Amino acid sequence: MEVKLLDLARQWKVIKDEVKKGVDEVFEECSFVLGRAVSRFEEEMAEFCGVGGAVGVASGTDAILLSLRVLGVEREEEVITSPYSFFATAGAIWNCGGRPVFVDIDPATYNIDADLIEAAITDRTRAILPVHLYGQMADMDPILAVAEKHGLGVVEDAAQSVGAEYKGKRAGSLGTLGAISFFPSKNLGGAGDGGMIVGRDESLLSEVRLLRGHGAKNRYFHEKVGFNSRLDSLQAAVLAVKLRYLDEWSATRREHAALYDAAFREMDEVAPPPVLEGCSHIYNQYIIRCRRRDELKAFLDRNGIGNAIYYPLSLHEQECFRSLGYGAGAFPESERAAKETLSIPVYPELLPAEQEYVIGKVKEFYAR
Ligand SMILES: Cc1ncc(COP(=O)(O)O)c(C=O)c1O
Repeated sequence: MEVKLLDLARQWKVIKDEVKKGVDEVFEECSFVLGRAVSRFEEEMAEFCGVGGAVGVASGTDAILLSLRVLGVEREEEVITSPYSFFATAGAIWNCGGRPVFVDIDPATYNIDADLIEAAITDRTRAILPVHLYGQMADMDPILAVAEKHGLGVVEDAAQSVGAEYKGKRAGSLGTLGAISFFPSKNLGGAGDGGMIVGRDESLLSEVRLLRGHGAKNRYFHEKVGFNSRLDSLQAAVLAVKLRYLDEWSATRREHAALYDAAFREMDEVAPPPVLEGCSHIYNQYIIRCRRRDELKAFLDRNGIGNAIYYPLSLHEQECFRSLGYGAGAFPESERAAKETLSIPVYPELLPAEQEYVIGKVKEFYAR
């Protein structure tokens, strides 16, 4: 049997007719960049996330970068974040002119350890950038408290967590701004790159709107040096269809996760991902922490089971960040997670027989 890590072709079968209709409408209007489909989708996303407004941009990476930019992060100013994330989290800080300052993760959730943040604050700190990794939100209450105490902005990297909740509030709605990615493999993925900034502060959001279009409110008259970072109407048309299914898909991901949890909980070699009390995980990825990770990975590969390591090398150990002065051993939990975790299939269309096969093979590996 072959079980893919993610099979978007199955999703396509379900949404095909609606997507084609949405795409047709965009072509009828021929307004391809920031057209009506985009403004409609922005409104829908704002409502979905429980915020006042949303601004479509070209990618999740740009969503982080533009958020930091409007919070005033400038040359060499520090942004505190997790060393255990996709590269873009720290790359966006860097490309904004700022300096990533890493704080180790909570080994249970893989998200930034909120208790360690305050010690990393200096007089150059401008913002905190918690990442809601894999579909579960970081522990936001203490993060917001420390940010408020020190007058810092908070940008949530919600790229992997659209629809996840923390004490009844959705990802992106708790910080100063929230950054979302619509990369195709995300739980709300487009047919190409795309991203969005969500938030409650209308003045910050309108600053983002200005910056995404070269800093010009009126065409050819530029108040600021901005960017070309806009969401395409075709992407918005696709995403608007998928948004209608998102809660249902998240519920199905949770059902799959519960089955895995039950199977792995009785094993010593595999630890399922715990969910913080009062939070709802959307399982953008289902991550196990496991013994002999690389051997298990090779075994799953041989047995046709899609899997992936997110992420094999922590950000502070990346060659391009050598100048930041961290080295191996700086963030032990992050480094341990990079060696011990593995992602296995959890996408909504995964069939029961396929999931049974995955569980069976994991058990078989450790029984040998
Ligand atoms: C945690 C995290 N942050 C940022 C990004 C960047 O998003 P994008 O690929 O849309 O630029 C991604 C996804 O790729 C991500 O997983």
